Amino acid sequence: MLLCWVRSVSASRSTPDGTLMYPVPATVNIDGRITDAADATVSVFDHGFLFGDGVYETIRTYNRMPFLLPPHLTRLRASAARLSLKIPPDDGELARRLSETMAKVNVGGEVTLRMLVTRGVGPLSYDPAACPTPTVVIIALPHQAPPPKVHRDGVRVVVAGVLRNHPRSVDPSIKSNNLLNNVLAMQEAIRRDAYEAILLNHRDELTECAQSNLFAVREGIVMTPPLDAGLLEGVTRNFLFEMGADLRIEVREEALREADLSSIDELFLTSTTREVVPIVEVGDVCIGSGRPGPVTARLLSRFRERANTLTRPAAG
Ligand SMILES: Cc1ncc(COP(=O)(O)O)c(C=O)c1O
Repeated sequence: MLLCWVRSVSASRSTPDGTLMYPVPATVNIDGRITDAADATVSVFDHGFLFGDGVYETIRTYNRMPFLLPPHLTRLRASAARLSLKIPPDDGELARRLSETMAKVNVGGEVTLRMLVTRGVGPLSYDPAACPTPTVVIIALPHQAPPPKVHRDGVRVVVAGVLRNHPRSVDPSIKSNNLLNNVLAMQEAIRRDAYEAILLNHRDELTECAQSNLFAVREGIVMTPPLDAGLLEGVTRNFLFEMGADLRIEVREEALREADLSSIDELFLTSTTREVVPIVEVGDVCIGSGRPGPVTARLLSRFRERANTLTRPAAG
């Protein structure tokens, strides 16, 4: 195992997610009513607040158009179904609310949208029938991309002591507001001066990071932990399989362990807000050459190109 002799970027700890700092010129839509950040309030009896009982999506725009909106809405509904949570507005109505809210973010540039659906307001009871009306919130913020050095130099991450939830506990495939597992892992990363935390599962396999999916490259083949390792099926993760096919780079699911990190050439993470970020160090272990690798660079470049093409307004 190589030890890194130059410390790599631990990067932007003040904004681990890179996007959701407060206060910001946020616009908020609560059940169809648009307000600014200061007036955006929900009841303390909302079960989202009381129990983390709800689901969410983070979506970003390219060319001021929500990118990959259909898979985000599909995942939102799939997550909600796992909690027996209904989302009364149909997809057309959700898309309309997203664009109305986004339109009010009048600083230039791209927008990050966080859409949350919670159980709604009700008495202190776990019975879903206690809350007849879910709360639907959209938070629209100017998109804050990671600083350029993150993509240029890569980042340092750590393997967290806290394990990813067991799928028979709060299943990581549900994108739920119940984020304590991720919060604890991220707190550990921040304490250890790292950009992200890799979480192991109960079998000691790598799963994903606290806020992103994980990919490794060995001899030109890209590998990512399988869904049954217990992880979120990232929209960007799925898009990356398409980018691989475009570039004739094999991308496949494969179980990975911490010991594999010493024999891989490249490592990277993916998420909606961070795209494809090279990882050059895990703890004190250098990945490959200790610099972002060529396969990661090609995938990132293809990703950006396709994101722009897919959201470019039609000519005429
Ligand atoms: C735990 C976790 N895994 C993966 C991801 C990446 O998912 P996506 O590509 O859909 O943003 C996220 C994003 O928030 C996440 O929280």
